[in-house]
Amino acid sequence: MTVASAPGKVYLFGEHAVVYGEPAVPCAIERRATVRATKRDDERIRVQANDLSINGFSVEYTEGATEESAEFDVPHPLVEAAVGYVDGAIEQVRDVLDASVGFTVTIESDIPLGAGLGSSAAVVVAAIDAATREVGIELSPEEIADRAYQVEYDVQDGQASRADTFCSAMGGAVRVEGDDCQQIGDTPRLPFVIGYDGGAGDTGELVAGVRSVRETYGFADETVSSIGDLVRTGEAALLDGDLQELGRLMNFNHGLLSALGVSSRSLDSMVWATREAGAMGAKLTGAGGGGCIVALDPSPASGTALQYTPGCESTFRAELAHEGVRVEQP
Ligand code: PMV
Repeated sequence: MTVASAPGKVYLFGEHAVVYGEPAVPCAIERRATVRATKRDDERIRVQANDLSINGFSVEYTEGATEESAEFDVPHPLVEAAVGYVDGAIEQVRDVLDASVGFTVTIESDIPLGAGLGSSAAVVVAAIDAATREVGIELSPEEIADRAYQVEYDVQDGQASRADTFCSAMGGAVRVEGDDCQQIGDTPRLPFVIGYDGGAGDTGELVAGVRSVRETYGFADETVSSIGDLVRTGEAALLDGDLQELGRLMNFNHGLLSALGVSSRSLDSMVWATREAGAMGAKLTGAGGGGCIVALDPSPASGTALQYTPGCESTFRAELAHEGVRVEQP
């Protein structure tokens, strides 16, 4: 058995606009998906998953055809999504090996699913690393990022940027603009506070929604470009270690995302609760529609405010994860 883990992420800036070639700055956080891969004697794949936001399930199949139904009471779309990502990851491993090997894959994740914290990217990245190492191959984090992106791209019908997968594989703060992905060197300590409404947004649907608004209304096209400008300003603030300016720009970014229609009442409530508590800034993270917000606050005030905010199910502090994908047990 080989075990690998990979971190989730928050978007400091730039989600959605990144889909249209604008830059984005995601930051890896110390919340990880851990994948155990064991090679089998047959070509079957068995997936067992335990995620923070699901009760756990187990599924076994050959060549994408599920032969046993979920053993636990988990909503079917979640099972399909998890199986789709693992299937894609194993497909990549078979491509590397040029052979049809089978695996038993166990996933444990403390990243809520579909909540804007990059849970699927972390699972795919860790699964590719664990399964390739299990058969004696060590891929570079860059190659894992690239292969994980192909998986996300396929599963999400071409509506995926490289941001999540590159950030999860490399760790730290990164900059993604189209196919150009880079790590951002020295970053200040970023005091992230996460608020989670217990829900999830449908990334594909939200990306399609922004596309349609952008095609119909000129303001939305300009909004996407404005997010790009804001990200460029934000990168300079990050390199200067100017947290106040970063917070201000996060607030602007949230407003622009709201204008594109991807915020929600619970996300707005959590954003405002942290701002009123004295956070330097706050915004939704990821696709939106529900899920998580990220605030910048070195004090405990935002976390306390979130605990009393209707619509907020849980809150936690998230340190920047300097390490991306890593082997836990060779
Ligand atoms: O919610 P997440 O973690 O799936 O992030 C989606 C981010 C988008 O920019 C909306 C889409 C993408 O692939 O970059």
